[in-house]
Amino acid sequence: MKSIKFAMPSLKEAKLRKNIDIETVRYTLEDKYKDLGKGKSYYIFTYGCQGNEADSEVMSGILENIGYTLSTDPMNSDVVLLNTCAIRENAEQRIWGVLGQLKGRKREHPDMIIGICGCMPQEENATNKILESYDFIDLVFGTHNRDHLPQLIYQAYLTKAKVVEVLSNQGNILEDAPKVRASKHKAWVNIMFGCDEFCTYCIVPYTRGRERSRAKDDIIAEVKELVANGYKEVTLLGQNVNAYGKDLGIDYTFGDLLYDLDKTGIERIRYTTSHPRDLDEKTMLAMRDCKSVMPHLHLPVQSGDNDILKIMNRKYTYEDYMAKITRLKELVPHISITTDIIVGFPNETEEQFQNTLKLCHNVGYEGAFTFIYSPREGTPAAKMPDSTPEDEKKQRLLRLNEVINAGYKKGHERFLNKVVNVLVDGESKNGEGMMCGYSENLKLTHFKSTDMSLVGKTVKVKVTEAKTWFMIGELCE
Ligand code: SAH
Ligand code: SF4
Ligand code: F3S
Repeated sequence: MKSIKFAMPSLKEAKLRKNIDIETVRYTLEDKYKDLGKGKSYYIFTYGCQGNEADSEVMSGILENIGYTLSTDPMNSDVVLLNTCAIRENAEQRIWGVLGQLKGRKREHPDMIIGICGCMPQEENATNKILESYDFIDLVFGTHNRDHLPQLIYQAYLTKAKVVEVLSNQGNILEDAPKVRASKHKAWVNIMFGCDEFCTYCIVPYTRGRERSRAKDDIIAEVKELVANGYKEVTLLGQNVNAYGKDLGIDYTFGDLLYDLDKTGIERIRYTTSHPRDLDEKTMLAMRDCKSVMPHLHLPVQSGDNDILKIMNRKYTYEDYMAKITRLKELVPHISITTDIIVGFPNETEEQFQNTLKLCHNVGYEGAFTFIYSPREGTPAAKMPDSTPEDEKKQRLLRLNEVINAGYKKGHERFLNKVVNVLVDGESKNGEGMMCGYSENLKLTHFKSTDMSLVGKTVKVKVTEAKTWFMIGELCE
């Protein structure tokens, strides 16, 4: 028995979804699912953005809620889920590779349940490929269906047939779901879901549905509970956090939320991702005024060329972007700024690429995620003719990365001989006897210590060496 509810919306349909009401679903569990996983184990592979990491924490919570325990070995688990990403072609290639490995394992252990979820199943062509070529997969479900996990697993056991549930609707808001958080001192907190920006290259508005904000009281309550449980840092998540509240039709913005969360007593607040058009004065003022809001901003620019920005549908110019950067540096002089950049957008010329390099120089980024444009079926850019050779695009990426990597190093050098506050994560992979954590400006900092009681505490470290990817320092007594 197959249960298929599926259709990827076209751009036109997706844009019309604004007229449909959003539902808040409060998680409940039917009695018949309570012991579904008793004596059984699970494993989740997570790819993609922090949104997926947060979703995996919810799915772990739901699985543990029905009796499963976390396995350390995916190949020997009763349930294996792949929480996938569809943002670029190479993200998808990795998933097909892992599925290849799981295929053999499933042959030896036919009772193992293999599920694929997250953003890939929201694409019609990816789901069709799974159904046609990956017969051994038991569960296929999309980003809007995580709360159905107990039913889906129940159905898979009961029917021994493939269970497919991918809703193409605008998505709902799930509250009160159990979560197993990966860290005991740092937490992801979703403040909104989906995206309505429709940048012409991007698949996210189709895979994640309509922009929808959680109620502010639910967010504040979650952060208060985290504080009560000893958490030190929250990262507020959304594809465009600066649009927070717009869909609720209330006079309360992201800046207001920062001011309110600052009062909860949480030590550190970070947020991602910001959209340059929506980053407003109030948010920047909150960065200046609120002690807990950390001096780092990830502000994806994508390109420094006005014509490319226009075709990307980013809705700001180089000049708009630079004006916000200037204001931000005025208000928070010690801020670190990072970004995302795409090179090789269809027909990008050398001159247009030079404009991106110029922008990097003028902003002084201290880090960036850089990508070669990857066409995504169903998005407007995928239909644009493109005459720039692939080799040229690779060369541009290398040239850009040289500039960006120099920025990383400079960003570390400015802290040489200074004392930074580091929230300690644990042992460092950088050598024995070393521990590490992140400074306020989000600089990975290693220091000599084996004192595990420091994990989850903020310590003072004097920076003695600045490398490209991290800093080294000495613990201050
Ligand atoms: N919502 C965030 C980030 C979304 S995806 C934002 O708007 O900034 C993360 C990054 O992936 C994007 O910032 C962009 O740089 C990159 N990206 C998205 N679609 C892409 C594509 N088709 N090809 C290459 N990079 C892409
Ligand atoms: Fe994609 Fe643009 Fe939305 Fe970011 S803002 S998720 S790049 S459509
Ligand atoms: Fe990837 Fe989906 Fe996030 S496509 S980047 S996992 S929203």
